[in-house]
Amino acid sequence: MKDLGAKKSELDPIEIASRDEISALQLKRLKWSLAHAYDNVPMYKARFDAAGVHPDDLNSLADLAKFPFTNKSDLRDNYPFGLFAVPREKIMRIHASSGTTGKATVVGYSHNDLEVFSDMVARSLRASGVRPGEMVHNAYGYGLFTGGLGAHMGIERLGATVVPVSGGMTPRQVTLINDFKPEAIMVTPSYMLNILEEFERQGLDPRASSLQVGIFGAEPWTNAMRREVEEAFDMHCVDIYGLSEIMGPGVANECVETKDGLHIWEDHFYPEVIDPVTGEVVEDGQEGELVFTTLTKEGMPMIRYRTRDLTRLMPGTARSMRRMEKITGRSDDMIILRGVNVFPTQIEEQLLATDGLGPYFQIELHKNGPMDAMRVHVEPTVGNSDADGLAQILGKRIKETIGISAEIVLQKSGGVERSEGKAKRVVDNRGQGK
Ligand code: DLL
Repeated sequence: MKDLGAKKSELDPIEIASRDEISALQLKRLKWSLAHAYDNVPMYKARFDAAGVHPDDLNSLADLAKFPFTNKSDLRDNYPFGLFAVPREKIMRIHASSGTTGKATVVGYSHNDLEVFSDMVARSLRASGVRPGEMVHNAYGYGLFTGGLGAHMGIERLGATVVPVSGGMTPRQVTLINDFKPEAIMVTPSYMLNILEEFERQGLDPRASSLQVGIFGAEPWTNAMRREVEEAFDMHCVDIYGLSEIMGPGVANECVETKDGLHIWEDHFYPEVIDPVTGEVVEDGQEGELVFTTLTKEGMPMIRYRTRDLTRLMPGTARSMRRMEKITGRSDDMIILRGVNVFPTQIEEQLLATDGLGPYFQIELHKNGPMDAMRVHVEPTVGNSDADGLAQILGKRIKETIGISAEIVLQKSGGVERSEGKAKRVVDNRGQGK
């Protein structure tokens, strides 16, 4: 694999500024953002007033902890445009996520917000090792989801060539990669596995493809998965993080030269990690729930938005901006099985450590009498005859490392649902009597 790390001269100066410079900029912007939210969004005014705080009370970054949190339910309660801080006609773009229950959550961007969005995705691409003039195959879904269009704008902003494929039609994805020869691909990690399988189905060697880097995000994935895909394609794989409420893809990104967690673009997004139970801010280095405050967003500022994503903050390395550790999972996705907390990423790690099993999996929760129980649906790799032995090995690994008993169900090849975007890792049949 080629060394793709960016030269210092290619970076935005703030990426490698001193911590003091970064903090000073953050404080100035945070004051603006709190006042902007308070003055223009009735919900923030009411919340701040109820909590007895005013934007003028912020004299240091630590003072942010005095301000109330914002939750996903606040977006639903103010559906569709109640949290916009500029007149509706100043909103240039709307995105939304369908959500599993109830109303969609809607977000809006001003002209300047879209500029920042493009810049941050371009910065993320540069951190990933992509350069102007190269070609990027964009397989994130286009539409209300922020992934496709968000990545698209950033690729153009960098001065690279975008192939706006979107998700789906997997055989065509492979044809286009082979014919156009892009240097980079942007896609969810689970869909990348599906594309890998299609390479094999077409009798093509993925290691011979033009791809040098894959930029994967929108769902949790492990370092074990990174090794698997890097080996299969002989390319770098880096992590891109983001969420619609804060912007979309490009809130944080890994640097290809270090692959040691994701640098948060702290000049636009102020991170805190809190104890999810008490809401107290924890020290950098401690695990907890990630909370973001937007520093420059005009259309829909977010103050202390609780992401539900679990991670910890770490000092900068390849950039001065702090890093967040690869996300373990969302608190919403945490399975509690007889008192043990389990994340799908932990199952992924054990699965990938088991030779002879493919990387596809789905967790099914069901009732075993009054008890909750877990099944893990997996597939043996093609031509593997000792399937039962493999199931036993995986079951034992899960028991020993995670501490839970899971029934391993071996499906035939192709039997586990394939992803074309965000994978559905958990199917909950506990209410179905199954
Ligand atoms: O998934 C934005 C995005 C698109 C990010 C493409 C990266 C690439 P939402 O649909 O609003 O936005 O979902 C946001 O997805 O709170 C996390 O739970 C999860 N997520 C996003 N990126 C990662 C990642 C987009 N790199 C939610 N690792 C977030 C783990 C991620 N989880």
